[in-house]
Amino acid sequence: MKGYKRILFLFAVITTVIIILSRCMSVGSQLPKDIRGENYTGAATCIKCHVALSQSFAHNPHGLTSKPVNNQDLSRVFEPDSNTFSFNAHMRVVIEKRNKGIYQVAYENGKETHAERFDIQFGSGEKAFTYGYWKGKKLMELPLSYFTSINNWANSPSFPLDKIYYGRAITSRCFECHGSYVEKKTVQKSALALDEEMEKRSLIYGIDCERCHGPGKQHVVFHMENPKEKTAKFITIYKTLSRKQKMDACGVCHSGNDVLPQRSVFGFQPGDDLNAYYIRDFVSFGGANPDVHGNQTAMLTGSKCYQKSETMTCQSCHNTHESIKSSVQLYSQRCINCHKTTTHSALTLAKGILKDNCIDCHMPKQPSKLISFQKAGQNQVSPYLLRSHHIGIYPVK
Ligand code: HEC
Ligand code: HEC
Ligand code: HEC
Ligand code: HEC
Ligand code: HEC
Ligand code: HEC
Ligand code: HEC
Repeated sequence: MKGYKRILFLFAVITTVIIILSRCMSVGSQLPKDIRGENYTGAATCIKCHVALSQSFAHNPHGLTSKPVNNQDLSRVFEPDSNTFSFNAHMRVVIEKRNKGIYQVAYENGKETHAERFDIQFGSGEKAFTYGYWKGKKLMELPLSYFTSINNWANSPSFPLDKIYYGRAITSRCFECHGSYVEKKTVQKSALALDEEMEKRSLIYGIDCERCHGPGKQHVVFHMENPKEKTAKFITIYKTLSRKQKMDACGVCHSGNDVLPQRSVFGFQPGDDLNAYYIRDFVSFGGANPDVHGNQTAMLTGSKCYQKSETMTCQSCHNTHESIKSSVQLYSQRCINCHKTTTHSALTLAKGILKDNCIDCHMPKQPSKLISFQKAGQNQVSPYLLRSHHIGIYPVK
């Protein structure tokens, strides 16, 4: 009888321990690991509860802004009859399918001089694609980029016009705006030169959920354990952020490339103060001459709509989870939200139905001062056009 009781007691203890352990281990430990750390869980986990949103995100420019090259996608980009880019009569780059992938092959006077494979794609193709190839632990830019405005290849931006160049590094800084994570190491190349190496396997391509929303593991664990709770917990609620915090959450990637990074912005979370990450050039920031490429923050904060209203942020016009791309009519509705009535001269009114398109007059497309590109066989460059986020009164054409 004693022995029987002892077994029963032992059994009870073991069961309790198993129950306790399995509760502790349960949700949290079953979630996939993420290289960014304990508090992250990866976009695949978010899909479980945010199905529709995750599906639409698969086609979103943020999500697609960097990825490994898929040969089928690439074949769709270039037609077999437009796979050559001639710099001049002697120099050309040909896009060729070979055994191990698709390559950009340089020919000078008919002889092959260099060939590198398409490994990584930058850009969702809204305006352009730029490509990188791995050279050991360094990522290098390929000589040709693809520009949607001409539906064709062109010499990569800022590349020399008189030679076929394979020597420009794509650094981890590109991934800080076009990706979610990469592990990097600084190596001493020579007494004076430092170089950067990146760990290919650590790369998280595209801008994922936790890049914008911050680490989400605790949020997931809570909602898996409390399926009846319909209010979000342990995740930053955008609506509760201050105006500056909202601007910073986009400005981390949309305030231009002339900032002085103080530390990696991979760790930036909504709510953080961007000034702790960047020293922004005060001459160009908000002032003198920001560029239409990449610096929507300075352009916008320089305009009257921003300065004279207390609420305008990027979200006044953009919801990153909704695609109203190219619909000037829907965007114009955003203007009308604040401008119920306007005073336009008879001359302006004669140009057509104003309410359908405030955008082309007040946010005209302008050429970037930083990016332009060279078309085949031409010495002059073509402009790279973007919307001016300096909302204002421009000469009407
Ligand atoms: C177990 C289910 C579950 C998972 C998995 C989950 N969430 Fe949520 N999430 C919720 C619930 C419930 C809400 C509250 C209702 C709503 O807004 O949809 C919510 C709301 C949110 C909100 C809105 C906050 C606001 O502004 O109101 C964000 C952002 C969010 N989740 C991000 C994420 C991210 C990022 C992931 C992946 C790391 C994730 N969620 C995974 C259940 C989940
Ligand atoms: C981690 C960097 C990063 C953050 C944070 C970020 N963006 Fe972007 N955004 C980009 C990049 C890179 C692109 C270009 C995507 C492509 O390849 O087409 C882009 C493109 C866009 C576009 C044009 C494409 C489209 O979806 O119509 C809009 C609008 C935009 N961002 C708005 C925002 C807003 C608003 C926020 C803040 C809520 C924000 N972004 C936060 C990096 C970022
Ligand atoms: C400070 C953030 C930032 C950095 C750093 C950055 N970009 Fe961008 N990039 C953007 C934003 C924002 C856009 C889209 C809007 C724009 O052009 O203003 C963009 C657009 C692009 C596009 C066009 C995307 C499309 O779909 O039209 C390409 C290609 C690109 N960048 C490549 C690169 C490469 C390669 C590097 C590194 C050499 C780099 N970028 C560094 C923020 C950045
Ligand atoms: C480029 C930045 C960015 C990325 C990437 C992003 N979000 Fe968001 N998300 C936002 C912003 C900004 C808001 C607030 C929208 C608003 O209030 O206008 C938001 C709102 C939400 C909301 C609540 C409101 C809604 O629109 O339903 C949920 C849930 C959410 N995001 C989940 C996700 C998930 C899941 C992913 C990945 C598939 C993701 N987000 C990727 C910026 C982003
Ligand atoms: C969040 C509210 C808000 C939104 C959204 C908004 N504006 Fe404004 N806008 C203002 C305010 C406030 C002023 C200043 C009015 C004043 O000076 O009395 C202003 C001023 C202007 C001016 C005069 C600029 C100048 O330099 O004199 C123009 C033009 C204008 N807005 C056009 C637009 C257009 C076009 C859109 C949409 C793309 C838009 N606004 C969206 C609030 C807004
Ligand atoms: C008053 C409305 C308004 C506000 C506020 C606004 N945008 Fe835009 N944005 C637009 C319009 C309109 C377009 C053009 C859309 C199109 O042509 O499809 C655009 C386009 C873009 C693009 C695509 C690049 C291009 O030039 O086509 C990016 C990136 C972008 N916005 C980022 C931002 C960021 C970041 C903020 C906040 C700093 C912001 N926007 C605030 C109206 C606005
Ligand atoms: C054909 C070009 C054009 C279109 C379309 C247009 N505007 Fe204007 N807007 C102008 C010009 C030019 C001025 C300066 C006054 C004038 O000459 O009519 C102006 C002035 C303004 C002003 C400052 C005067 C005021 O009313 O306070 C605002 C605000 C404004 N526009 C908003 C809008 C909005 C909102 C829309 C869309 C519903 C729009 N505009 C459509 C060209 C245009």
